Amino acid sequence: MKTLIAINGSPRRKGNTATLLEHAMQGAQSAGASNEMIHLYALNFKGCTSCFACKLKSRPHGSCAMKDELSPVLEKIKAADAVVFGTPIYFMNISAGMIACLERLLFANYIYSNEIPTVFGKKLPSAFVYTMNMTDKHFVQFNMTERLGVTEMFAGRILGVEPKILRAFNTVQFKDYSRYESSIFDPDDKFAYREKQFPVDCKAAFDIGRALVEQ
Ligand SMILES: Cc1cc2nc3c(=O)[nH]c(=O)nc-3n(C[C@H](O)[C@H](O)[C@H](O)COP(=O)(O)O)c2cc1C
Repeated sequence: MKTLIAINGSPRRKGNTATLLEHAMQGAQSAGASNEMIHLYALNFKGCTSCFACKLKSRPHGSCAMKDELSPVLEKIKAADAVVFGTPIYFMNISAGMIACLERLLFANYIYSNEIPTVFGKKLPSAFVYTMNMTDKHFVQFNMTERLGVTEMFAGRILGVEPKILRAFNTVQFKDYSRYESSIFDPDDKFAYREKQFPVDCKAAFDIGRALVEQ
């Protein structure tokens, strides 16, 4: 049986990102795969500390020497048949938790060699699922394809397969916007957009989960 690992890079366990990841997992399940969701913000871990143990000639390559609560997650990703990295956009980037996770996963499987671009050892189908306040127009205006593309490029090179991408725009952040300083948003527009578009995004996440384990 194939396994899909969904990595939730949002601190919210029932937020937009986690909801899309749930749908990706359902898609994988519909193709007969088993699933696991990892909530990064429930774990005590750090990003890469630049120890370079993964670059030593005397040590086997492809694993991070740091030992903390992310270590078993990195092992699970390596053993999986597919992985989905879900993250909210924070200050025009992926979340700090997701950056830290990817540093550990990707740097440990990359050595400074022109001949060997990756020591990951297999091809792992992956996807990036992004959720964000901004609209598709803002996404273009702020060159987000290029900004996020750098991480996607490293993931593709190191995991051996170009990642699939899903972008959910104009997400709802608060149940009740009137309780928060949020005058830049029109809550009616937000909720109307969500009602129309979020089911479409969920369906796209389902299809990605299914496609990844069928890949
Ligand atoms: C610290 C922080 C920074 C954010 N920065 C951005 C941003 O730069 N651009 C954007 O479109 N949304 C931004 N957002 C909004 C979230 O990306 C958006 O609400 C997302 O869907 C939240 O996902 P979640 O429900 O899974 O937590 C930010 C939210 C937080 C908490």
